[in-house]
Amino acid sequence: MKQVQDYIRTIVDFPHEGIMFRDVTTLFADPRGFRMAIDQMLHPYAGIAIDKVVGLEARGFILGGAIAHQLSVGFVPIRKKGKLPGKTIAQDYTLEYGEATVEIHDDAIQPGERVLVVDDLLATGGTAEAGIKLIEKLGGKIVSCAFIIDLPELGGRKRLEAMGMEVHALCAFDGM
Ligand code: PRP
Ligand code: MG
Repeated sequence: MKQVQDYIRTIVDFPHEGIMFRDVTTLFADPRGFRMAIDQMLHPYAGIAIDKVVGLEARGFILGGAIAHQLSVGFVPIRKKGKLPGKTIAQDYTLEYGEATVEIHDDAIQPGERVLVVDDLLATGGTAEAGIKLIEKLGGKIVSCAFIIDLPELGGRKRLEAMGMEVHALCAFDGM
């Protein structure tokens, strides 16, 4: 039977030379692939109390929406700066080239709520760390962080685990 990683397409030299881009659109587009990914991402959380799913823009929205629906809990987006209409709090983080900022609505998480963080890919962990900081600033308690892909050589898992986070990923790829 095909596994989750078999549905992920690799595009060489995108967005620039030397990068092997792991493209999950082929996984999302396949009916069995998408269901398998959602089912496997949910598996560690059977019987675990979760109050909210937070998805990281952009592919974390697709996964986080499906996971929140399955758990019958609410979904909260963390978005790139300037996209959310209400009152927000912001967190800067470092990208390969330069800085970026993500935001969350300041009333999206209540103090003490148990939160599952979802994104498609864990690379350096900078994006996830920024999201975690926003959730914690609002008083949320992170239960776990769920990804489809881990790129272990980029150190994101170690970085999140050093923050005390539980990390789950469905598959790992070598290299960038
Ligand atoms: C990609 C990916 C993760 C992040 C991982 O998103 O979807 O969100 O990078 O990298 P990191 O662990 O080094 O932070 P990207 O920033 O390309 O934006 P997008 O999801 O909006 O396309
Ligand atoms: Mg992303």
